[in-house]
Amino acid sequence: MISIKRVLTLLTLLFCTHSFADITPVIAKQGMVVSEQRVATQVGVDILRAGGNAIDAAIAVGYALAVTYPCCGNIGGGGFMTIHLADGKNIFINFREKAPLRATSTLFQDSADTETTDDITQSYLSVAVPGTVLGFETALNKYGTFTREQVMAPAIKLAKEGYVVTPYDAKWFGVYAEDLARDPYVASIFLKNGKPYQAGEKIIQTDLAATLQLISNHGAQAFYKGSIAKDIVSASEKEGGILSLADFEQYNVEELAPITCSYKGYQIISSAPPSSGGITLCEMLNILSNLPISSSRYHQTQDINYILEAMRYAYRDRNEKLGDPNFIDNPIAELLSSDYAKKISKNIKAKRFVDTTIEKDVKELSDTTHYSIIDNKGNAVSVTYTLNGFFGSKLIAKPTGFFLNDEMDDFATKAGVPNRFGLIQHDANNIQPGKRPLSSMTPTIVLKDGKVKMVLGSPGGPRIITSVLLTLLNVIDEDMNIKEAVDASRYHFQGNPNFVDIEPLAFSFALQKNLHYLGYRLLPQGTWGAVEAIYIDHNGNFLGANDRRRPDGAALGY
Ligand code: DON
Repeated sequence: MISIKRVLTLLTLLFCTHSFADITPVIAKQGMVVSEQRVATQVGVDILRAGGNAIDAAIAVGYALAVTYPCCGNIGGGGFMTIHLADGKNIFINFREKAPLRATSTLFQDSADTETTDDITQSYLSVAVPGTVLGFETALNKYGTFTREQVMAPAIKLAKEGYVVTPYDAKWFGVYAEDLARDPYVASIFLKNGKPYQAGEKIIQTDLAATLQLISNHGAQAFYKGSIAKDIVSASEKEGGILSLADFEQYNVEELAPITCSYKGYQIISSAPPSSGGITLCEMLNILSNLPISSSRYHQTQDINYILEAMRYAYRDRNEKLGDPNFIDNPIAELLSSDYAKKISKNIKAKRFVDTTIEKDVKELSDTTHYSIIDNKGNAVSVTYTLNGFFGSKLIAKPTGFFLNDEMDDFATKAGVPNRFGLIQHDANNIQPGKRPLSSMTPTIVLKDGKVKMVLGSPGGPRIITSVLLTLLNVIDEDMNIKEAVDASRYHFQGNPNFVDIEPLAFSFALQKNLHYLGYRLLPQGTWGAVEAIYIDHNGNFLGANDRRRPDGAALGY
């Protein structure tokens, strides 16, 4: 029998999201891969079919995205990998970029002590030491079963023989055409006769193929101790950057305990610092555990009010207190204690939080990329990695063929000054040599009774954490299937700036009116990150959901 809750959910989807797209997840029994690029998803499925485990597939997909999704997939950036192993162990691999050893806390402040914004996103000064290649090598060596050559072969082939540009890729090549035209080397790869690539055309990346082949032959040391590091450092030196060979030689990857918490019987396994994702997600879930969230939230002002306030409190803590654990003490136990959550929920019930706000419009963003994988052996992998902005710093060191990140902008370049995501952060996240900037990436795995129930994550800057939160609430509280949960319209609130980002039609007009009445300012935002998720049903079926926001991605299984 169909429950009232279910009817309400379906009505909500009909009237409160603008998509009438298919809301059926992809179903498979043996393995499932969900990524933002169909051809990369297929690479992962092929590895699983050939007997590889989820970690093998994760490395293959990561390299394939570095070729076929150059805005966001990368070897010039960094990220995080959350793993649940068949033996029950949960692992978090930190391959976040590091500030160069010559970086200082005032790197992006001029003599007048004001921010010099262009350098933060567009110059070699914005480039932090990349972590992806060592991250992948570490994960594969420790938890994979295939050789590096096996998992890199598909990416090398795609770079050498070319991949076909999808309609959505073409849109972004168009939007960034001017940036891609700035440097003749970048233009020679990513523009066709000076014009953006169109859907259906092929991009061949000969230089990237050679770089990948070097890594495949010699391992991460080709990147960190060989010609690739030398090429990047010499390009950086020519352009006034501060990267040095020592930065690459000393770069390291860490295996850390993930952040965990529970919500209504589900165990959440998520990212640890230097990501703020797990702590912020768990703080919001802990607060909400104490508040009466109903099952038809989309129509209820009180529920949305509670969720928005939980977001506001958790982002305040994120921005003030969190940073790289090798440099500061993150007050994890305090922020995730049940007493703290109870205190905040009491405050939320009593009255709305009041703060003074700094306003800055924030650009709409959906860069970065997430992918989720599960195999038939009981392993699950959740990866979010990034160049930060679309195509990172838009710089490629000749002749490496890959974009370098602009991750230095994730630092609080000046305490109290907003970054490109409008995040106003403090000294916990200031620049120091060798420090990793605080991230919002939230690759997450959810367990129920010790078994994997969901694998998910998202791009979207600070909106990553609330995108993961809402997807979880949609499944756990709203009884949505994973595809409905991923596709449902979203909202985001980080306190500063003091308006709530809403996806068009996320809230009914009546709800918008009520929220205005409570004092919230709502700001429609058009571009949201693609959540790529897997749910495991009670029969053990893998249900994959590629976000409607990224139609060229795919959930594929076998
Ligand atoms: O690590 C972070 O939190 C950011 N560099 C992620 C950037 C991102 O998701 C861009 N997309 N909007």
